Amino acid sequence: MEQHKLKELVKNMSLTEKINQLLQVTSGFFIDETVLTGPIRENGITEESISQAGSVIGLLGAKKYKEIQDAYIEKHPHKIPLLIMMDIINGFRTIFPIPLAQGATFEPELSKKCAEVAAKESAVSGVHVTFAPMVDLVRDARWGRVMESTGEDTKLNSDFATAMVEGFQGDNVGQEFKIAACVKHFAAYGAPTGGREYNTVELSENTLRGYYLPAYEGAIKAGVEMVMTSFNTLNGIPSTGNRWLNRDILRDEMGFNGVLISDWAAIEELQYHGYAKDRKEAAGVAMNAGVDIDMMTGIYSKNLASLIEEGTVKEELLDEAVLRILNLKNKLGLFENPYKDADEIKEKEIILCDEHRQVSLEAAEKSFVLLKNNGILPIKKEDKVAFIGPFVHEKEIYGTWSMLGRPEDTVSIADGAEKYRMDYEMTFAKGCNILGEEDRNLIPEHHYKKIIQEDQDRMLKEAVEAAKNADKVILTLGEHRCMSGEAASRAELTLPKAQEKLLHAIYEVNPNIGVILFTGRPLDLREVSEKSKAILNVWMPGTEGGNAILNVLTGKVSPSGKLPMSFPYCVGQVPVHYNEYFTGRPYNPGTGEKEYKSNYRDIPNAPLYPFGYGLSYAKFQYSDLKLSKDIMNEEETLEAYVTIKNEGEYEGTETVQLYIRDCAGSVVRPRKELKGYQKVDLQPGEAKRVTFQITEEMLRFCKADLTFGSEKGEFHVFVGTDSSTEEYVTFELI
Ligand code: GLC
Repeated sequence: MEQHKLKELVKNMSLTEKINQLLQVTSGFFIDETVLTGPIRENGITEESISQAGSVIGLLGAKKYKEIQDAYIEKHPHKIPLLIMMDIINGFRTIFPIPLAQGATFEPELSKKCAEVAAKESAVSGVHVTFAPMVDLVRDARWGRVMESTGEDTKLNSDFATAMVEGFQGDNVGQEFKIAACVKHFAAYGAPTGGREYNTVELSENTLRGYYLPAYEGAIKAGVEMVMTSFNTLNGIPSTGNRWLNRDILRDEMGFNGVLISDWAAIEELQYHGYAKDRKEAAGVAMNAGVDIDMMTGIYSKNLASLIEEGTVKEELLDEAVLRILNLKNKLGLFENPYKDADEIKEKEIILCDEHRQVSLEAAEKSFVLLKNNGILPIKKEDKVAFIGPFVHEKEIYGTWSMLGRPEDTVSIADGAEKYRMDYEMTFAKGCNILGEEDRNLIPEHHYKKIIQEDQDRMLKEAVEAAKNADKVILTLGEHRCMSGEAASRAELTLPKAQEKLLHAIYEVNPNIGVILFTGRPLDLREVSEKSKAILNVWMPGTEGGNAILNVLTGKVSPSGKLPMSFPYCVGQVPVHYNEYFTGRPYNPGTGEKEYKSNYRDIPNAPLYPFGYGLSYAKFQYSDLKLSKDIMNEEETLEAYVTIKNEGEYEGTETVQLYIRDCAGSVVRPRKELKGYQKVDLQPGEAKRVTFQITEEMLRFCKADLTFGSEKGEFHVFVGTDSSTEEYVTFELI
């Protein structure tokens, strides 16, 4: 529909019809099923507002979608179609590794492929918009939603945000099998005080602009069609009511002209924050702050008319919001074809097809991070291997935001082992549940599966026997999929107690342990590391998890993942991240000087495993780090070279990382910052020279005056295998 006709349409809508276009309700208001992702409170949503609601969250399935869309348009006074939205975070029915695991691939292009597949499966099922990518920068593993982010680095998050938006949306969302993306949560939701869910966020504007905003901006530059506000306050003002954040920064500075949607009931929650005295004031604050869609409260429907009549809210703000929503429906082609790609036949053909499973397998294999390996991995054909632990047969290995993932579609470790049973002698024993009675508070009650002590004792006994009779133990440990995600903050980062018991019992009889770790977040792995000879972090790997794990365990694929988020030495270190500042008394463990230095008396400063860290079965050696010159001006580019050689007996892929330190600035500068990365495949004995281009643009940062730019002076260049790389070369920007 031409733009002028859209404007004409808005003009012809009544005040009530315009206001109800801003309402989003769950599919439960249309059919007797939905997917609830937030609290349901008394909301006063009326039949009339439902019949004119602009969008629905949680409607799934082409057939049902078509029925509802037909019935809705039939009754709508202006035949405006419904917009259907859903959280498709890491896959629709073909589930990919959780986003934190995708970050570990250091391969945004692969996440683009995952998003393309997710978009295709979603589109044929009637979904128009996904509430992804989540790009909140995270430094605190106590916060459960770190699993949904691609990690602690600004550049990495921005690269993945761009790739995921491109994957979901293509060149334009009207194309076949494309859906609109929604970048979230604006802004800085990933920095809650104490790592406690929904808690207060306090950031200097310099830190906000320098580290937290760029990933949202990356998504906006990639053309993301929607932004979602965050639950948190930012420096005392809730994002959902924050005009400075949503109008001055998001719209005026970043140039975003798409739809801004509240998070679930976040408009109503302005009251609970103490930022609005009642629902009506909350409606006015949110509207004036630029929030277009009210997710699931009915507050706009109930209050905007009187707010406009009394002049608190200008009607043109409402008209702008309605036009933005209609624009999105128009871009999706819904006025001409309200079904878009919804198609029952294609649903059956496309969903979980082999091609999609192959993408999930590749993403899982590349996301695994080998944290330790004293040579016990890969397993050999002559090894007698006991697979032990609660994840051996576990099929819910797809993370908490994969509400459409199904166990019956998922490959467990035992499933994946089947095809290797001819060549390897394998036994399997569960040993314990993911959670024992003493761990039941770690997940919502309705997900907990009770176990009686005698069953627990029997499983443990069987596992110990299996370990005694094996050369090697592959011990599967980790988090229940609901232990991370929304409203899943934890003050401790250790394994469930039932699993600690299992680890100790197995270690007693057979210390030849290789651990497969399932987790949605960094954990305190000191105990696991002390009692194992290898740790392969597989995160929450998704539909093809078991196949990917066996391919890596048997050496068919070398692990290549790198940590997108630091694993702390212990929870007392958190928040911990690689790009910290020096302080005026920097602590350097190498010098042995501890007094009056910025350190702890009882633990190291360094995390157990740093950002960018990950081993391979190959052995990579770096040498000959050089620069093409040691002085450059703003117009010039210089090159950094390094040689990397595989001195191992396995082929492998290394993510070569470029870090730069700005030695002095108008604000203090981090110890180092990731500025580039390249993945290099090397056969045993093979060497390659890797080159990075360094430009003035890469040296820009948020200066003391809050503008972005570079400053002349000395810079150090590091190229290595992870963020703890110490060797550097120097150049000067003049
Ligand atoms: C949730 C989440 C948000 C999600 C929304 C809709 O509360 O915070 O990420 O997209 O509700 O499910």
